[in-house]
Amino acid sequence: MTNKVTLTQFIIEQQRGLPDASGTFTLLLNNIVTACKKISHLVNRGNLVGVLGSAGSENVQGEVQKKLDIITNDIMVEALNWTGHLAGMASEEVDEIITIPAGYPKGKYLALFDPLDGSSNIDINLAVGTIFSILRCREGIDPEPEDFLRKGAEQVCAGFVLYGPSTMMILTTGHGVNGFTLDQDIGEFILTHPNMRIPEETGEFAINMSNQRFWEPPVQRYIDECLQGKEGVREKDFNMRWVASLVADVYRILTRGGVFLYPYDLRDRAKPGKLRIMYEANPMAFIVEQAGGVCSTGRERILDIKPTGIHQRVPVILGSKNEVERIVSYHQDAF
Ligand code: AHG
Ligand code: MN
Ligand code: MN
Repeated sequence: MTNKVTLTQFIIEQQRGLPDASGTFTLLLNNIVTACKKISHLVNRGNLVGVLGSAGSENVQGEVQKKLDIITNDIMVEALNWTGHLAGMASEEVDEIITIPAGYPKGKYLALFDPLDGSSNIDINLAVGTIFSILRCREGIDPEPEDFLRKGAEQVCAGFVLYGPSTMMILTTGHGVNGFTLDQDIGEFILTHPNMRIPEETGEFAINMSNQRFWEPPVQRYIDECLQGKEGVREKDFNMRWVASLVADVYRILTRGGVFLYPYDLRDRAKPGKLRIMYEANPMAFIVEQAGGVCSTGRERILDIKPTGIHQRVPVILGSKNEVERIVSYHQDAF
């Protein structure tokens, strides 16, 4: 009989090796896992349980919310607010930081999440996901927004769940990246993709080409050179993919390499990029770096940015090392 390692077993064994591990983190992660299993079930049931379609409201970023944006946010909050492991939460779908209700104990971690990533894909039955990031917090305090505004390099854990043909959880605690597949029969995530590594070389890029006219010269140059293929300076043909779910694009890059760009965009000076640093860029940057890849705005390492607002947006260029370094060097040449 093959010995299947569950996510819980994996985390307990990993934490045992750490000197100051109290078991709290394992419990917190289990609560996140429970929430994501609920979300997986709902996403899978779809219109059978009437969860698809628009909610008719907007979030703080002016984006139209889907019913599932709100439902998944509530699932995350309700799975985590009573546990005693958290001092507070922040969500892409909630304007202010989320406090722990009176009567519940407060813990030493902060949880930040994008409860439903790729929500424009939900009604067309394509892959979506949940992204999360865990920070440590001074114990016993009522956190202010400033307590969340920490560099991504300070994350103690980051992960995402991809609700695709299989439901998968990708996780890092700063010791490499591991992938787990949800075994629906037993309701457990099983380690199926140990020590994921992003190949350094790639011939595949992901970018929303419809924004081309708004890009800066270094990104124009990079994509132009890819499109020239064998006849151009790169002397090879490139392939393109764009799922419009960051979770799916990053999962592909973790599996077979590639580069993803949601670059600086000249459309609106107030929005230097689309993706949110706290809920998308930082957790993905931690995962990508732990898998041997690189994540940058083009000008600086994502994990070194000191955020100024919980809903702040940043340009994101991530993936295979050699390719991202090339794009960064084009920025250095230009500016
Ligand atoms: P969300 O659904 O959480 O708002 O995130 C959507 C993000 C990201 O998942 C994806 O890479 C990108 O937006 C797609 O943007 P376009 O619709 O501009 O292609
Ligand atoms: Mn998202
Ligand atoms: Mn979202």
